[in-house]
Amino acid sequence: MTSLLVTNIGELTTHGPQGTVQHAALVVDDGRVAWIGGAGHSQLTDRRLDVEGRAVIPGFVDSHAHLVFAGSRAVEFAARMAGQPYTGGGIHTTVTATRAAPDEALRANTARLVHEAARQGTTTIEIKSGYGLTVPDEQRSLRIAAGFTDETTYLGAHVVPPGTDADEYVRLVCGDMLAAARPYARWIDVFCERGAFDVDQSREILRAGAAAGLGMRIHANQLTAGQGIQLAVELGAASADHCTHLSDADVKALADADTVATLLPGAEFSTRSPYPDARALLDAGATVALATDCNPGSSYTTSMPFCLALAVREMRMTPAEALWSATAGGAKALRRTDIGHLAVGARADLTVLSAPSFLHLAYRPGVPLVHTVLRNGEPLCTP
Ligand code: NIG
Ligand code: FE
Repeated sequence: MTSLLVTNIGELTTHGPQGTVQHAALVVDDGRVAWIGGAGHSQLTDRRLDVEGRAVIPGFVDSHAHLVFAGSRAVEFAARMAGQPYTGGGIHTTVTATRAAPDEALRANTARLVHEAARQGTTTIEIKSGYGLTVPDEQRSLRIAAGFTDETTYLGAHVVPPGTDADEYVRLVCGDMLAAARPYARWIDVFCERGAFDVDQSREILRAGAAAGLGMRIHANQLTAGQGIQLAVELGAASADHCTHLSDADVKALADADTVATLLPGAEFSTRSPYPDARALLDAGATVALATDCNPGSSYTTSMPFCLALAVREMRMTPAEALWSATAGGAKALRRTDIGHLAVGARADLTVLSAPSFLHLAYRPGVPLVHTVLRNGEPLCTP
């Protein structure tokens, strides 16, 4: 590993003790941030990257994505835009296509989406299974996911496959399927929702995963106001994701807990649903993360800048709050301390913007503003 000076940074957002630094420079050593200071200071390094006044932010941490799948549901999306509601029923369409796809096709589709995310500034991405729903198909999805990220999530409890008894399926998810998934997974997730898994089934599944050494996360309160958030807090899950339907008690529970509220505005956008009340969560003191929920049904986007712009425009987060949630918030949702910020000692995962300030991420929606991406101080994407 060599050292690198990133200099002439117009505006550096660190989310660390130094806050935001104007006219900054940063030294990377051995893949980590080693020094932060003014651009005028001379630093002896092996390499030098002059970013010519551009803004630098921590790489985005996308803590919720379903990337291992085959097929398209563009027609379902069009029907929704014409008035059909989103019910989650389309998951079965993707399960059928995913089971039929060869390993190589699934791997290639995952790679395409991971690269698409990286080109938009994402340096860490969580990837879930959940479109296999048999022991071999869930294991295969996780094996493929583990080829792209350490943040892999076992979502055998996405829906009950048609023709299967629900109790029998919960036993499988907690038994043989968990054992097959375990070597490739860091997390366990469950879709706690009417028509998927109820709160008692969800509790049983998450406890089984935790007993096997997996961290817990939950799809909670997406389509209806259920008890998913309360369950996430009760179990000490790392994150309750979606939170579209929030009661005052849910907001208070999240504010008093370590569980992060992960908001996925791409899903509300693509299902034409009301957005979650981010302001209530933030004003109460809850920790909020933003993620894409990239999947072929409810949110087929890999773009963290798009989600950030939605959070600002539609959920009344300030641009600074949205940037924090899309980076440091995602890191907290994954219980990671090494990413999501650029303090000295952090992993040198950073995104150079073709803009003088991070404000442009929301100010210029839909514009490709990512110039260069470094991960561990090495180029992941260059112009
Ligand atoms: O997070 N809600 C459950 N799972 C996904 C959607 C899956 C699909 O429609 O294929 C979500 O929105
Ligand atoms: Fe999801």
